Order: sequence, then C-alpha cells, then structure tokens
Amino acid sequence: MADRQKAVDAALDRWTPPETEDPSVIHKAMRYSLFAGGKRIRPLLATAAAEAVSDAPAGIENAACALEMIHTYSLIHDDLPALDNDDLRRGRPTSHKVFGEAMAILAGDALLTLAFEVLAKLPGVSAERRIELVRELATASGTVGGMIGGQVNDIEGEGKHPTAVLLESIHRAKTGALLRASVRFGAIYAGADAAQLAALSDFGTHFGLAFQIVDDVLDVEQSSEALGKTAGKDAAQHKITFPAVYGIERSKEMAEEERLAAHLALQPFGDAAERLRELADLVVRRSA
Ligand code: IPE
Ligand code: IPE
Ligand code: MG
Ligand code: MG
Ligand code: MG
Repeated sequence: MADRQKAVDAALDRWTPPETEDPSVIHKAMRYSLFAGGKRIRPLLATAAAEAVSDAPAGIENAACALEMIHTYSLIHDDLPALDNDDLRRGRPTSHKVFGEAMAILAGDALLTLAFEVLAKLPGVSAERRIELVRELATASGTVGGMIGGQVNDIEGEGKHPTAVLLESIHRAKTGALLRASVRFGAIYAGADAAQLAALSDFGTHFGLAFQIVDDVLDVEQSSEALGKTAGKDAAQHKITFPAVYGIERSKEMAEEERLAAHLALQPFGDAAERLRELADLVVRRSA
C-alpha cells in the first residue's frame, strides 16, 4: 500500500504546477493541501478495483490523481469558515488559516479544474474511455446525489432533528458518491464488463457508507491529535451523523454490517479482489 501511495504522490507531483510557477501563491496552496499526508483511500480503491478486473493496468495512478484532487478540493472548502469552520486538517493548519480565505477558495477551484484537465490528457487511454471517466467524476462530485448535493444537505441539516432519512441522503452523497466513483474509476479504466461494473458499484456503495459511519464514530471517540483534524466538531455543530441518529454502539455494528455486505459483493472476483477486501477491513478498523 505504501508503494502505491508513493506512486500516486509522484503522479500528483508531476501533474501539479511547481511552486515556482507564476502565480506562485496558488501553486503553493494547492501543494500544501495535496501533500499534507492524506490516506489516499480513493486512489487505492481505484487501483485495487482495476486489479480485480485485470492485471495492474499501466497508468492507473494518473486517473487516480483526479480523484485525489477532487477530494482535496472538497476538504479545503469543507473547512472554510462558511462551511465547517475548521482550523486543522491532515495534521496541519487548514488552507484558509495559512493562505487566507480567498486563496483557499481559489486553491479548491484550481484542484477541481485540474482534475478534469488530467482526465482529458490521460496518456494511453482512448477518448471514449476518458469521456466515461469525466462523466463518472463529474456526476459523483455534482449536486444530484453527488458530493456537493450531500454537502448542501449536511449544511442545511445543522440543527435539524436528526432522522435516519436525512442521514442517509447526506452520507450517501457527500462521501459515498466519490468513494463509489473511485471504485468504478478503476473498473472503467481496466475495461470492466457490465456485470463486473455492477458488482464493484455495489461494493463501492457499501464501502462508502462504512467509511462515513466510521468517520462519524471517530469524530466522537478520537482525539484531534490522532485524527489530524478537530475532534468533537459534529456534536458541537449539531450535525446529522450516525452516532446522533443511532448511538455509538449501533453505529459500530452498522459499519461492520456494511463491511460484510461489501465483502459479499466481491464474491465473483475471488482472489483478484483481495486488495479491495483489505481496504474495506482497513477503513472499518482504522483509528484515524
Ligand atoms: C475525510 O476523508 C473527509 C471525508 C470525506 C469524511 P479522508 O478520511 O479520506 O481524509 P484524508 O484524505 O485521509 O485526509
Ligand atoms: C466532509 O465531511 C465531506 C466532504 C469533504 C465532501 P465531514 O465534514 O464529516 O469531513 P471531516 O470530518 O471534516 O473530514
Ligand atoms: Mg462537513
Ligand atoms: Mg468537516
Ligand atoms: Mg467528519
């Protein structure tokens, strides 16, 4: 896994303009957040999904960069004073604390734009497949069932009575959609057939839900030092979370149920899906 994270970091470094490039401040801000030590779950998912379909396809780390750029942009904007108003991210002061609000907004915008430039330029990939990837990422990041739609419901949900229905609509979209798209990215990149894509999408849906349940549980149970982001924020901001709706113990059981459902979806792939199984186990059992 460490090797793959390195390959993704090297590709991110190649695609992102150097700090010396004019206007320097925006490239500094983009790199500050990109290279702050994220877990790179989305690139790892894409690579593992591609592997489940065919032998490690060359250049998958380039497509994976687009996922990590969108994710990092979403974190920079999620932390802005107008959204979650956070000071700490990936163990560092948040972008707007270091570069100011205007540059943080623009760094997010720039990473969002760069993600699609990368997909348009993907070396060695047919135009048809590049368009499929563009459509997948745009939909998963968008307003209808995608990341932005989920963020809207998350912000509008603050202070509302937490119900299971609201919770589901927030979480499937704000985090679930991009995680599911990460799995589908790998599958599409590797040329999956319809049945393989359907099974991997099913895996991605369960994985995405498990991931956000655990994110919510960790926000309650862990320290800011361990998480590298401010703990206890969800309760303070009256967010609609799994612990708020179901309590901690039931939330943990639900994460485990999603992990098992994710495993089940991988049955047709046999040993080729071992990395995906490991990632599902890892996100549910992680402590940060
Ligand atoms: C955190 O995502 C934000 C959510 C989408 C819940 P990650 O836990 O994947 O964050 P990094 O990339 O490792 O920092
Ligand atoms: C953020 O969810 C999800 C996105 C950035 C799209 P959270 O607000 O729960 O993420 P953290 O806990 O701040 O990382
Ligand atoms: Mg948020
Ligand atoms: Mg947040
Ligand atoms: Mg959270």
